[in-house]
Amino acid sequence: MTRTGNPRSYQSYYVYEPLPVRERQMRKRRLAAKRVSESAMTTYRLMMPTDANISGNVFGGSIMKYMDEIAGIVAFRHAATNVVTASIDRMNFYAPVYIGDLLILKAAVNYVGRTSMEVGVRIEAQDPRTGRSVQTGSCYLTYVALDTKGRPTPVPKLLLETAEEKLRFRQAGIRRRLRDEERAAIEKL
Ligand SMILES: CC(C)(COP(=O)(O)OP(=O)(O)OC[C@H]1O[C@@H](n2cnc3c(N)ncnc32)[C@H](O)[C@@H]1OP(=O)(O)O)[C@@H](O)C(=O)NCCC(=O)NCCS
Repeated sequence: MTRTGNPRSYQSYYVYEPLPVRERQMRKRRLAAKRVSESAMTTYRLMMPTDANISGNVFGGSIMKYMDEIAGIVAFRHAATNVVTASIDRMNFYAPVYIGDLLILKAAVNYVGRTSMEVGVRIEAQDPRTGRSVQTGSCYLTYVALDTKGRPTPVPKLLLETAEEKLRFRQAGIRRRLRDEERAAIEKL
């Protein structure tokens, strides 16, 4: 509470102001380092006729939408604040996906910068009749965390627990450097 106006006047009153201490505590709690497993997710989607392209197989754009959706949720869970897709790296499709297949999307945070996060997505298609799965695609997406005013805001550090997570972090660090260099080189022209 803050007292405003002339203290001797009847017009003097108290106004409520958010406590900076509480804000700082909330921010500190949000920014506590998180494990990869705390935000990682796997989702399943049955490929329906609405996902088809004109050849009758699954349309690549449908898969990209599902991929951005799950990766965005993973980034949101890690950052615990609103996020936006900043970039999507080259999307690789290794094999076709068919209507009636179960699309399995596995996503996890690979790397965090100050305000950005790289999320890796592995895409598999499973024939529910045989249970056989094949990897059909993979992609890396970068999300940026935003504050309530829509400005980039820091994200929690990543606690790396397994050898695989450590390797992915290092690989993603190389991609991050290459992305920065590419952007800088193009902007310099
Ligand atoms: C992403 C966005 C918030 C970045 O804003 P900006 O003013 O460039 O922010 P900054 O320069 O401070 O960079 C913030 C972070 O984003 C990263 N970044 C910015 N542009 C990027 C890009 N194209 N690809 C990957 N990372 C990017 C920076 O490397 C930085 O990361 P760091 O904090 O971990 O070091 C802004 O470009 C934006 O709002 N884009 C539109 C996003 C959107 O609407 N997506 C949905 C598509 S419909």
